[in-house]
Amino acid sequence: MNDEEKFTGSETPEGAAAEQTDVCPEAPETENEGTVSGTEAQKTAESSESGEVDIAAVNAQCLASGDFTGFDDAYEAALEQRARDEKAAADRASPADPDALLEVRHLKMYFPLKKTLGGKVTLWLRAVDDVSFKLKAGETLGIVGESGCGKTTMGRAVLKLYKPTGGQIFFEGKDIAKYKPSEMRPLRTKMQIIFQDPYSSLPPRSTVGGILSEPVKVHKIVEKEKIKDYVLDVMEQCGLRDYYFERYPHEFSGGQRQRICIARALSVNPQLVVCDEPVSALDVSIQAQIINLLRRLQEQRGLTYMFISHDLSVVKHISDRIGVMYLGSMVEFGDKKSIFSHPMHPYTQALFSAVPNPNPDVKMDRIVLKGDIPSPANPPKGCKFHTRCHKCMEICKHIAPKYLEYEPGHFVACHLYPQEEA
Ligand SMILES: Nc1ncnc2c1ncn2[C@@H]1O[C@H](COP(=O)(O)OP(=O)(O)O)[C@@H](O)[C@H]1O
Ligand code: SF4
Ligand SMILES: [Mg+2]
Repeated sequence: MNDEEKFTGSETPEGAAAEQTDVCPEAPETENEGTVSGTEAQKTAESSESGEVDIAAVNAQCLASGDFTGFDDAYEAALEQRARDEKAAADRASPADPDALLEVRHLKMYFPLKKTLGGKVTLWLRAVDDVSFKLKAGETLGIVGESGCGKTTMGRAVLKLYKPTGGQIFFEGKDIAKYKPSEMRPLRTKMQIIFQDPYSSLPPRSTVGGILSEPVKVHKIVEKEKIKDYVLDVMEQCGLRDYYFERYPHEFSGGQRQRICIARALSVNPQLVVCDEPVSALDVSIQAQIINLLRRLQEQRGLTYMFISHDLSVVKHISDRIGVMYLGSMVEFGDKKSIFSHPMHPYTQALFSAVPNPNPDVKMDRIVLKGDIPSPANPPKGCKFHTRCHKCMEICKHIAPKYLEYEPGHFVACHLYPQEEA
């Protein structure tokens, strides 16, 4: 939360982004004369029946073509940055989607890693970089991706527990991205978070009753004399016995503690709940109980969840929509059915191929991801996933693919698919 202070004044990474755009010089026309850019090379490649671009054709055109003299990475990066800035500026002018409870546009959350003695930031860690999505009321958005890809940071930035570096966050149609803490206060009850570790997220010296009564009191949810009855009612909804009211967190198991955390989040009647790996720290036998509890509470209260997890089976069970993140970017987004029946991004395909199938007759074609996850402070050029992608083409190493909608509501960022906007 202290990161709010880290992004003030002229040091904001937005400034840095602008700086970087300036630093990347546009290559003089003569330098690029006669070259075929990767995008153009790809355009001319034949598309296969599946809609994917023919990899061999693209590679052949990029590498073997006589008039192709290579990519100018700095030039391509500058073009890409400019295109992203222009898209963000154009989107900024358009009104929020009235059907969405939450609409995130071009969200960025950068952390300063290195500073000069004068305090100028020289290296940013782009934990969340230009992420956009919409979520309707009552739905669950599952966010998946390997550890360190920015899931938690995005969840926290959406709730304004971090001050976002850039982008828009519409909650109930209002852009809260630039709201001050005082403006956020009335919204705090509407947006809650459940953390991964139920052991460290409960104060050890307060009773369960005290922990659950506190937010109800602070936010004046009910009259003072009705607080205990109200809390007991919330406890019952979360499967907690009434005599737990006088007990302390250390007296409970992980599953019970997570129920207390859920009850605390729900005690203020939220609309949106970010569940950050809520079952990852729990015993497998308890996980299903907590997931079922979350689903039941969602039905009863019409809750909207952003459910962060690296466990695809859990996400498949609970989500309506799924977002796949890699190195701070959303690489694929769509409704559950479409993503599971037709995963388009090679990273999604690799993740899904690792999910065990209970049916022994189904042959598993596991795609093993090669190499380590690169650092978000120094992501690979072009497509950030290219160092590990089993379908990598030459163009992927130089030009970042656009995040485009290929089926209604199904977005993908990959050069395997046509790069022209519909
Ligand atoms: N407060 C912070 N300061 C600097 N870097 C951070 C901070 N929080 C997270 N990061 C970095 O941001 C990246 C994304 O982290 P995180 O959002 O926790 O990923 P995930 O939840 O997907 O595992 C990681 O490289 C992490 O080290
Ligand atoms: S995921 Fe990236 S590297 Fe792989 S094919 Fe798509 S654009 Fe290329
Ligand atoms: Mg996390």
